[in-house]
Amino acid sequence: MSSSPAVHTVRFEPFGIEMEVEEGETVLDAAFRQGIALMHGCKEGQCASCKSLLLEGDIELLKYSTFALPDYESEAGQILLCRTEAYSDLSIELLSYDEELLSRSIPVKSHAGTVTRITPLTHDIRLLEIELETPLKFWAGQYVDLTIPEHNVTRAYSMANAPSEQHKLQFIIKKYPDGAFSALLDGDLTVGAKVSAKGPYGGCFRREGRDGAMVLVGGGSGMSPLWSILNDLVESGEQRPVRFFYGARTRADLFLLDELASLGAKLNDFKFIPALSDAAPGDEWTGETGLVTDVVAQTLKEEGFSGNMDAYSCGPPPMIDAVLPLLQVAGIEPTSIYFDKFTQPMSREEPSLATGAN
Ligand code: FES
Repeated sequence: MSSSPAVHTVRFEPFGIEMEVEEGETVLDAAFRQGIALMHGCKEGQCASCKSLLLEGDIELLKYSTFALPDYESEAGQILLCRTEAYSDLSIELLSYDEELLSRSIPVKSHAGTVTRITPLTHDIRLLEIELETPLKFWAGQYVDLTIPEHNVTRAYSMANAPSEQHKLQFIIKKYPDGAFSALLDGDLTVGAKVSAKGPYGGCFRREGRDGAMVLVGGGSGMSPLWSILNDLVESGEQRPVRFFYGARTRADLFLLDELASLGAKLNDFKFIPALSDAAPGDEWTGETGLVTDVVAQTLKEEGFSGNMDAYSCGPPPMIDAVLPLLQVAGIEPTSIYFDKFTQPMSREEPSLATGAN
């Protein structure tokens, strides 16, 4: 006869929030299950987003990267919640938290679904569409862990559609030749294939009710959450200036341009500003060139925005790392800069997501 796992109580300071954790599950997973959205990113001990301080109790830490938690920090009682299993009741101090994330928590669940369409958007970007059997509630900009059981592969991908659609989800995915998931998008994964989506995860979601400019900065398949955020903003009817910067190599790497133009036409003050880092001679490109981060800095300086601005950024880590200080110089509060970074997981050959607020 199997006995149920021991259950312990975890108390999070400084809020005094309490929850249960079962032996054998991590504190972060227990929080997701109970709809308590703590700061998180990689969920596998690499990014340090979930770093906290153990005040009391017995724990065991699963394998993690010492870049995320150096020995001197663990010796001082710091832990990674995504790697922490409880062996007694715990008291934990959250070292970083986002009160809006906590207040808009949605319990993480698994949803079964099927693939309904796969469409090429460029030579290496695909639009994957799936239909779920049960609705997935999420905020624009969040992501799920998508699993293809037949191929035993799971990757984190951000929804591209607005959250008003909870059954039919879209994902803009960049193909990697050896990507265990993305390489399946050109033939091996077919319409009707079973998938499951577990989520929602991520703190890089659209904040409502701000009046200053909204700045979106993306590259590659970083378009996915930004597309969701932009569609959600338009659906909300909120009007605020929006500057959408997008970095690509050549003209052939740009996509959804007509759709962007018609979405932008519904906003009073919208500019899409693509920057090509490697424009081909045949591109006849008259727009911005060079690194998108330089274009962001220059444009925001010229525009001189002020007020309750926020910024959302999703793309390769070097782009995010370069753009964060520039956004602050442009007058955006660090706590109003939200980002999705593609990280390189320990055991995988294609990028996954880490998210957070600066
Ligand atoms: S280290 Fe815990 S979420 Fe990344």
